[in-house]
Amino acid sequence: MTGTAIGIDIGGSGIKGAPVDLATGTLAGERKRLVTPSPATPKAVAATVAQLLEELNVEGAVGITLPAVVMHGVARTAANIDKDWIGTDAGELLAKATGRAVSVVNDADAAGIAEVKFGAGKDRSGVVLMLTLGTGIGSALFVNGELVPNTELGHLHLHHGDAEEYAADSAREREDLSWEQYAHRLDQYLKLVHGLFWPDLIIIGGGISKKSEKYLPLIDVDVEVVPAKLLNEAGIIGAAMQAPVV
Ligand code: BGC
Repeated sequence: MTGTAIGIDIGGSGIKGAPVDLATGTLAGERKRLVTPSPATPKAVAATVAQLLEELNVEGAVGITLPAVVMHGVARTAANIDKDWIGTDAGELLAKATGRAVSVVNDADAAGIAEVKFGAGKDRSGVVLMLTLGTGIGSALFVNGELVPNTELGHLHLHHGDAEEYAADSAREREDLSWEQYAHRLDQYLKLVHGLFWPDLIIIGGGISKKSEKYLPLIDVDVEVVPAKLLNEAGIIGAAMQAPVV
């Protein structure tokens, strides 16, 4: 991949974007962030994305993430975003609002795409699983570098509910868990996922990947587990890598 595209990462609290150098997987200009509107309806988010692009003031195609299953541009779920997204043709909505060629992908898939190409999963074959721990748990599954899109492993059943309710970073914050307590929960989640998918490598992404020394030493699942390398930029970089070629 060569050239530049713009990546935009839509999250629960912020909408972040930057131009990305597709050959190196690094930001090619200033990164900007706007607060996610509340409620984060499709219309309100589309207006914020348009504003962010104006502020970035860079031409080019745009790849955009959503924390949802996205099939052919249409959002199909909305676990941690406004329910109005379900059934919305996000590709069409965001292309109209911005006047640009746009593609829309799941946020964890985007982060995984970047991490596998440029980060902790680089040059790794076999089954690689990226898990993003944030408000929810996102997943991106790769087989020899090829993504199996829209896996939703944060919604596996663990302790009478969605695993993400129990083991996402938001659970640690909400319940004021110590790192030991949180690591115990994460360990149970990773053992569940490991027993179902038997990956060769698990990459932990999301904001929490920066603090991996607090919990990774306490994890004893029988597979290599490493923190993501691209940290918070993975979503932006992966989104840009998925931008339509114009
Ligand atoms: C959503 C996923 C998303 C993940 C991380 C989950 O609740 O269902 O689509 O990737 O949160 O944002």
